Amino acid sequence: MSAALRPPSGSPHARLWGIGSYRPARVVANAELVEAIDSSDEWIQQRTGIRERRFASPEETVQMMSVAASRQALERAGVDARQIDCVVVATVSHLLQTPAVATAIAHELGTDQAAAFDISAACAGFCHGISLAADMVRGGSARHVLVIGVERLSDITDLTDRGTAFIFADGAGAAVVGPSDEPGIGPVVWGSDGEQFDLIRTREDWRDVLAADAPVMPHLVMQGSAVFRWASFTMAKVGLQALDRAGVAPDQLDCFVPHQANMRITDAMARAMKLPETVRIARDIAEQGNTSAASIPLALDRMLAEGDARSGDTALLIAFGAGLAYAAQVVTVP
Ligand code: COA
Repeated sequence: MSAALRPPSGSPHARLWGIGSYRPARVVANAELVEAIDSSDEWIQQRTGIRERRFASPEETVQMMSVAASRQALERAGVDARQIDCVVVATVSHLLQTPAVATAIAHELGTDQAAAFDISAACAGFCHGISLAADMVRGGSARHVLVIGVERLSDITDLTDRGTAFIFADGAGAAVVGPSDEPGIGPVVWGSDGEQFDLIRTREDWRDVLAADAPVMPHLVMQGSAVFRWASFTMAKVGLQALDRAGVAPDQLDCFVPHQANMRITDAMARAMKLPETVRIARDIAEQGNTSAASIPLALDRMLAEGDARSGDTALLIAFGAGLAYAAQVVTVP
């Protein structure tokens, strides 16, 4: 007869304990990019809402930006690095294939050999990480989890490509997820549509790059209008499902923090979801561009700093991108 195993047991609920972020120092205005793509500041602002973005310097590595954002999140959460049981890093732009950058970050932060791994869910990565972290805390495999969204997309963006050069940018955000007496992270609504795998992707895989006569970095390519249509309409339904599953009516929502892909997508989603005017909407994209996995914690941290979000607010997070992968959940703002 097999031995009876003791079941895992965690906290009844999980919540965000604190968030932090890091913005690279160098501001890159549209004017700096337009010549190489025969575009204009006006066109970029009108189509995307982006006025400027940040590009990381060589010293502002994925690890460096992650550690800076994480230290801020830990301090605000009142959690020591040694209390972190797991570090989850969402990124597609850490260019060393293995090991996971999460392991180096866990070490540099001074965790006690926390479990650490990277996840690849592109722009949806941060919300995937929050969902995993909440389940770990509730399931008993971790008490405190550090979730990081970080990108150096400038490394994999072709600055001569008219369809992407003005969109992508760099930065990092982090959140500490821990135990709670009350639900602070609602049920996730997530999924993927691999039929549209090619809509946003890196152009080649590494073997194709090496086989080329003049190897170049595999850059991001995107079928912009198809992505625009998918995100604007399908994602609004996902957002409404996340509200419904959390038992939150649109008029009970304080903040809407979508992935900062494009200001027009944000506006289209808010309209399709019929969000009341009282809901404060994250619009960090204007100054930060699209930082993929980092965009939601960057945007939420800024809303907190500027008083557009307050501790205890109810916020809808929704992230979407390459894959096409998506994830949404309602959270209580830390
Ligand atoms: N600057 C100036 N003009 C440009 C341009 C640029 N960078 N890129 C395209 N154009 C022109 C085209 O030549 C075309 O001109 P025409 O009408 O005279 O033929 C016109 O703009 C429309 O081209 P199109 O490729 O259909 O652009 P678009 O309207 O779809 O806009 C995006 C392009 C990328 C701004 C838009 O598709 C978009 O925002 N998509 C979503 C992208 C996104 O958010 N991705 C992240 C998801 S995680």
